[in-house]
Amino acid sequence: MKRILLPLLLLVVATAGLVAWLGLREDPGPPSRMASQPPTALAMRGAYLARAGNCMGCHTVRGGEPYAGGRAIRTPFGTIPAPNITPDRETGIGTWSADDFWRALHNGKGKDGRLLYPAFPYPNYTRVTRDDSDAMYAYLRTVTPVRQEDAAPALRFPFNLRPLLVGWRALYFRPGEYQPEPARNAEWNRGAYLVQGLGHCSACHTARNALGATDQKADLGGGMIPMLNWYASALTGEAGGGLGDWETQHITDLLKTGVSARGAVSGPMAEVVGASLQYLSDADVRAMAVYLKTLPQGETAVSPPPPPGPATERVLKAGAALYEQHCVNCHKASGAGEPPHFPALAGNRSVLHVEPVNAIRAVLHGGYPPSTAGNPRPYGMPPYAAVLNDQEVAALVSFIRNNWGNQASLVGADQVNRYRAVTLD
Ligand code: HEC
Ligand code: HEC
Ligand code: HEC
Repeated sequence: MKRILLPLLLLVVATAGLVAWLGLREDPGPPSRMASQPPTALAMRGAYLARAGNCMGCHTVRGGEPYAGGRAIRTPFGTIPAPNITPDRETGIGTWSADDFWRALHNGKGKDGRLLYPAFPYPNYTRVTRDDSDAMYAYLRTVTPVRQEDAAPALRFPFNLRPLLVGWRALYFRPGEYQPEPARNAEWNRGAYLVQGLGHCSACHTARNALGATDQKADLGGGMIPMLNWYASALTGEAGGGLGDWETQHITDLLKTGVSARGAVSGPMAEVVGASLQYLSDADVRAMAVYLKTLPQGETAVSPPPPPGPATERVLKAGAALYEQHCVNCHKASGAGEPPHFPALAGNRSVLHVEPVNAIRAVLHGGYPPSTAGNPRPYGMPPYAAVLNDQEVAALVSFIRNNWGNQASLVGADQVNRYRAVTLD
């Protein structure tokens, strides 16, 4: 018995030691070069980069003071409020050094060394260079300090125990700056840097496992965003489900203006374009599109066509009549719409996803693409929740999923009902 116990004990201790080492380790990264840079230019570059990272999007409550925190980030484990990152000395990060700030962004640790929850997308931000981190630090020193205490996270047991993040980090977090690929040109590397790092596109466009970690094997392969009830499309290279049949120009149009020949953004993506991407330079947006266009084909699940037969025909016929009555003016009998103002529904991925949630929400609650310099007065989609019942919306969405060459499963009234009450938070 003893002969088994000792090696077993050693094994347990060694494993615990390994987990602690993996979960707590830090990558010091290169030293700061801040001292040698003109402060104003540095802060201006930082303002641009903070836009690219959409730091304000999470660290500001709607209508609140910029960067004063408080917006609750919802996760399947509970909510985590984004803290105050204004330079207030008591309640913000006024006493933080550039090294402290780098440690948060690069290593996911607070000033006191506590482990941060990955609702703060540091698994992406760890790719950001030290120079860019310093520039954002310099910028955040210049925003108005706001006195506002941070609220505590409201997480279920055992997720409320921060130290347990050691295990999560050991499994899923690798600190490290983006390493340029020498075989690719500067544009591609810039795009990869922005998409993987500050843009944190994978935070929404990659499916997550039961512990909330993004699935590295299906990076940018799309999926439901937990808690937000939107389906984020695949950005990988397959035609149909991914961006394989999009031209680079379609992608840059969408990211920069919110509308394109292939569809319009809505929901959380409208927020990303409106608050962040529209402010990026044409060169940076193009670099992202160029990088995305080289992603290999993924394996987006394709929705099966409905079974042929009179039941299906009845639904589609009812849907066609409703379409004629309510939708045809804007989206046209051909389903080609009038891009960029009225998106085409033929071949539109938001219509064809395995999970029809985006199309259902569009019909129930309507929506607007964001107002951008390239599309300052966006045309809106009216809400139909008060006009159409669940059965009717189901028939309508089933119809647009199965007309003009579209092919995807029928939608049930119960699916529609699930999204009647949800609105964007
Ligand atoms: C998706 C939402 C989200 C985005 C985007 C985001 N943050 Fe945060 N951030 C959070 C949350 C949530 C926390 C708190 C994590 C915790 O409590 O463990 C946090 C924590 C931090 C902290 C640690 C503060 C402290 O008091 O410990 C810093 C610094 C920070 N973020 C800076 C940034 C910067 C800079 C950006 C943009 C490059 C950014 N954040 C973008 C959600 C976000
Ligand atoms: C907060 C979550 C979120 C983040 C972050 C995010 N996206 Fe999205 N994105 C979505 C959702 C949801 C959709 C589907 C709804 C829509 O089409 O607007 C989408 C749609 C898209 C589409 C396709 C639109 C279509 O019609 O199929 C592209 C392209 C895209 N995103 C690119 C990006 C890139 C590039 C980034 C990073 C710079 C990014 N997204 C970051 C949530 C997000
Ligand atoms: C007044 C013009 C108008 C009418 C009528 C209209 N739509 Fe729309 N529709 C739009 C606009 C504009 C958008 C883009 C909204 C956005 O990006 O949030 C849109 C978006 C959509 C989308 C999401 C497409 C995407 O690319 O994300 C679907 C699905 C849709 N409409 C279906 C319908 C259906 C079904 C009807 C009839 C019940 C209808 N629309 C009626 C103007 C209209």
